[in-house]
Parts: sequence; C-alpha cells; structure tokens
Amino acid sequence: MNSRKEMKAVLLKQYDRDLAHAIDALEVTTRPIPRPSRGQVLVRMAAAPCNQSDLLLIRGLYGVKKRLPTVPGWEGTGTVVDHGGGLVARRLMGKRVACGGQEDRDGTWAEYFVAGATGCIPLEKEIPWEQGASLIVNPLTAVGLLDETKKLGARAAIQNAAMSQAGRMLVRLFASEGIPLINIVRRPDQEVRLREMGASHVLNSESPEFPERLRHLAHELGATVAFDAVAGPATGALIDSMPAHSTVLVYGALSDKRSEGIDPIDMIFAGKTVRGFYMGEWLHKRGLLGALRAISRVKRLVRRGVLTTDFALRFGINEVREGLRSYVERYSQGKALLLLDGGAGD
Ligand SMILES: NC(=O)c1ccc[n+]([C@@H]2O[C@H](COP(=O)([O-])OP(=O)(O)OC[C@H]3O[C@@H](n4cnc5c(N)ncnc54)[C@H](OP(=O)(O)O)[C@@H]3O)[C@@H](O)[C@H]2O)c1
Repeated sequence: MNSRKEMKAVLLKQYDRDLAHAIDALEVTTRPIPRPSRGQVLVRMAAAPCNQSDLLLIRGLYGVKKRLPTVPGWEGTGTVVDHGGGLVARRLMGKRVACGGQEDRDGTWAEYFVAGATGCIPLEKEIPWEQGASLIVNPLTAVGLLDETKKLGARAAIQNAAMSQAGRMLVRLFASEGIPLINIVRRPDQEVRLREMGASHVLNSESPEFPERLRHLAHELGATVAFDAVAGPATGALIDSMPAHSTVLVYGALSDKRSEGIDPIDMIFAGKTVRGFYMGEWLHKRGLLGALRAISRVKRLVRRGVLTTDFALRFGINEVREGLRSYVERYSQGKALLLLDGGAGD
C-alpha cells in the first residue's frame, strides 16, 4: 500500500487546436494520488510515451473529448502498487504492466495512474520497460492493419508516413510475413534510412515521378490496400494510383486536412473504397479471446524486435513542455518518452 498522498501530474486545462499553444498551456501540478475502485489498480508509473493520439487529445480533436481539467496520456508502463478489489486486480499486485485505454478519467502522464485491471498487460522480464511503455497503441495498430490486409485478400500494401514508429513496425511486420509493402516518405533522408532498415520499396511523395511510380508499383505488386496516416490530398493520390477494388484505410490525420481528391467514378465503377481504421474498435470487435490473442502476439513480436519503438527523446515531468516541443519539430527523429521514475527496472 502506498504511503504518499500526492503526486506530480501533467494537467490539461483547455483544448487548443493550435499544437504549439496546446503544448505551452500544459501545466505540471501536484494532485492527490487517485484511489482505485473495484476492478481497478493503481500503477506507479515508470514512463509514458507521447503518441499522435495524445497530440490530438490536447488539441481537442481526438474521437472523445475528456472533461477538463484532465491528465493526458493514453498509455504507459509501471508497477501495480494498490488495487480496489476483484480477482484480476488482486492478481496484478506488484506486477510490472503496460497500461492505458481510459477514456473517462485521468491519463498516464502522472506519477500514478488508475487503470482498469482488465486493461493491464503484465510484462515478462524479457520486455524492457521502455518497450512496455509503448506496447499498446502502435503495436496493436500494426497487427490490426495486417489483419485487415489479410481479410481484404491483398497481395501487397501501401503506407504513407512510413518513417513513423507505426510505419517502421509495419515495415518489419510485413517483411516477416512476406507481404510486399510500398513505403511512402516525404524527405530524401527518410528514403535512405528506411532502405537501411530493410524496406525494399520506398518512394518520396515530393519527387516529380512519384504518382507514376506509385501507380506502376501498386499495379505490378497487386497492392489493393493502403494505410493512410496523412489524409488531405494524400488519400486521393493513394486511391487514384491503386488497382480496381482497392481499399484505403485512413488511420491518421497528420496533414491536419480533410481527405480529398477521391474520384467518385472510381468508387462507383472500379469498386474502390475509402474508410477509417481505429485500433480500439478493431480490438473491441475481436471479443475478449481475440483481444487476448492479439496482445500475446504483440508481446511475442516486441520480444522478437518486430514491433519495437525507437525512442529519441527522454525527459522528466518538469521538462514536459520542452520535450514535446522538440518531438513535434521532427517526428521522424524518434518517439518522446516521459520518464516518471516509478519502478523503472523493477
Ligand atoms: N487509427 C488508429 O487507431 C491509430 C493508432 C495508432 C497510431 N495511429 C496513427 O498512426 C500515425 C503514426 O503515428 P506514430 O506515433 O507512429 O507517429 P510518429 O512516430 O510521431 O511519426 C509521425 C511521422 O509522420 C510524418 N509526418 C508528419 N506530418 C506529415 C505530413 N503532413 N505528411 C507526411 N508525413 C508526415 C513525420 O515525418 P517528419 O519527421 O518529416 O515530420 C513522421 O515520420 C499517426 O497518424 C497516428 O495518429 C492511428
């Protein structure tokens, strides 16, 4: 049982669509340590990453709006130090876990976090605590997008923003499955780095030959599914270049623009489809057993180095604003990790 009464937490008091303003407005504050109810556990947090979904949350653009003030942070890792009762919660006591998934209460950017016991993933010692911090959001998304690819019967796939952490996971995952993946980046240095990571097909969206090369490769490889993290004109460019009966799964909004340039004739006569993909919904639809299977698969793939996250920035809670500013300047340098100091290496 924890004897401290207060903790440090990052506090979001107002939503601001302007990312720089939203980051500047975050406060580091002292709050009472929350108490877990039945079926919940208290996690002493070791670390929590900043994901694109956290940036959408603080801008008020995420799929759900939390009541303010709130603590941001959709996932993280730490050690279970208290519980509110219930079999699952009791069995997690003292365990190192990956946790997240709350939409109705404070998030993980704090020294302590109340998690639903069934939303906690116990971590074996082979999973380093930094990887445990990013075990849920991007790894499950990569596995979900692979699952969609198989369901759609695609022989190959396309992704943009391929240097993102989710993108790098997809590169390794699709290679391990032997499914060709066409990777789109927007800078020459990203092209080089992605090839060094073993990607066979890399295109730069800013090169004049891009539309033609994408069309050619998509038809040659039979890429009938695309993962669009960018949206805006990128959605239309993808669906335009793909064979008949292709599907674009829009799973991010990095351009901050509405998807556009989608030819209705292609949708009507060539059976092309554009739809959204949300990992939370994908996981929910699988039911309890399916979700547990997906989670053990993710853990296996993290241990094998397939679904790992590259962290470039690590900072303490007092430096959260500076750390986030640095991350958003150049996402591809690597993920930002908020160190919360509770049980790292336990
Ligand atoms: N739908 C879901 O369930 C779900 C779940 C998880 C993740 N996601 C999405 O997956 C995507 C990747 O997340 P992440 O955490 O892996 O990202 P990340 O590591 O922060 O990387 C973002 C990448 O996107 C690139 N980028 C940013 N703005 C761009 C633009 N306008 N056009 C083209 N490229 C751009 C960045 O390149 P630079 O370095 O050049 O800026 C960087 O390579 C995000 O859109 C996120 O929202 C969705």
